[in-house]
Amino acid sequence: MKLDIIAGARPNFMKIAPIIAALEKVNIKIQYRLIHTGQHYDNKMSGSFFEQLGIPKPHVNLEVGSGTQAEQTARIMERYENLLLKEPADWVLVVGDVTSTMACSIAAKKLGMGVIHVEGGIRSNDITMPEEINRMVTDAITDIFYTTSEVANQNLRKLGHDESKIRYVGNTMIDTLLKNMPRFNKPKAWNVYDLNEKQYFVMTLHRPANVDEEAQLKNLINEIVKGANDMPIIFPVHPRTAKMLKGIGIEADNLHMIEPLGYLEFNYLVKHAFAVVTDSGGITEETTVMKVPCMTLRDNTERPETITIGTNELVGTNPDNIAPFMKKLHQGEWKAGDIPYLWDGHTAERIVDDLLKL
Ligand code: UD1
Repeated sequence: MKLDIIAGARPNFMKIAPIIAALEKVNIKIQYRLIHTGQHYDNKMSGSFFEQLGIPKPHVNLEVGSGTQAEQTARIMERYENLLLKEPADWVLVVGDVTSTMACSIAAKKLGMGVIHVEGGIRSNDITMPEEINRMVTDAITDIFYTTSEVANQNLRKLGHDESKIRYVGNTMIDTLLKNMPRFNKPKAWNVYDLNEKQYFVMTLHRPANVDEEAQLKNLINEIVKGANDMPIIFPVHPRTAKMLKGIGIEADNLHMIEPLGYLEFNYLVKHAFAVVTDSGGITEETTVMKVPCMTLRDNTERPETITIGTNELVGTNPDNIAPFMKKLHQGEWKAGDIPYLWDGHTAERIVDDLLKL
């Protein structure tokens, strides 16, 4: 069986790492090829994840680079189709919801290959997010769904997908988290900003709804700075946000903007933080498992189990919503949270066991 594994952007790398490790153990039966689309291309967004997570060098890099949504989609489809025409695969395995996920699924499916979607079925029901469109399109042409939650299963059933296509296996991102926890590594920022355990915030922001408009970004950051009660806020800045911040000039004594961190350093910070403020989806899963309070600055989430089961709360994108949540946090009234079923570190093994039956 010839299997292509697709990775393109930062949140894909921690999801494919354990699948590749599990495939290496059965490598005679499944011949895999790792394709990096090049959607994320610099060391901080891509290279360092390969090194730290022990992901082998991709067999092919499509080197598509930055661009608009359509430009990236078009370039990935063209280059991946070209590769498949010369060297076809039987199946393509895509993860998550980035542009590379959708583009490669379409190219492969149109050439008659099977599509496997890891983390299929999740929905924010917010069609203004590029990721939601990527999820909908990918799922529409997926043959096998490996899902992370019962909500995802229900979404797929409602869409009319046959039960036999839906396989609840857990969360490969959590495989990576649990495996690497003993290797988490104190970043330089720890000493530079004199951090103490459970006495600082970690913040990340990169969604267009939060960072593409100057006033919104400024108001959000100001409210978080105010709500932190003088605790340091460590803010590893995504390249998209950095471009925006350059023009705004926000400064506060407790706000420390740093470059994007490696996986082991970022999760060290999260594990020991008082709380996390983010607009990422993946981070809400990691905080749930590490039982760190998390405030999500979005109006919706495709990962509701991080709220109903985990430590996450949906604060919204209105900066005025932040203060009451901060109050609850400082008063020690945040929920303790639990861990969703099968987020146990063995998801990739379950996936590979199942792939062997195809
Ligand atoms: C993408 C994903 C998003 C994911 C995020 C994590 C889509 C639609 N979105 O959004 O789901 O949460 O990645 O980071 O796929 N850039 C660099 N270096 C890089 C990569 C990007 O400087 O290695 C710059 C680009 O030039 C661009 C900006 O960062 O200006 C945004 O990158 P892009 O890949 O377009 O989307 P993200 O916002 O990162």
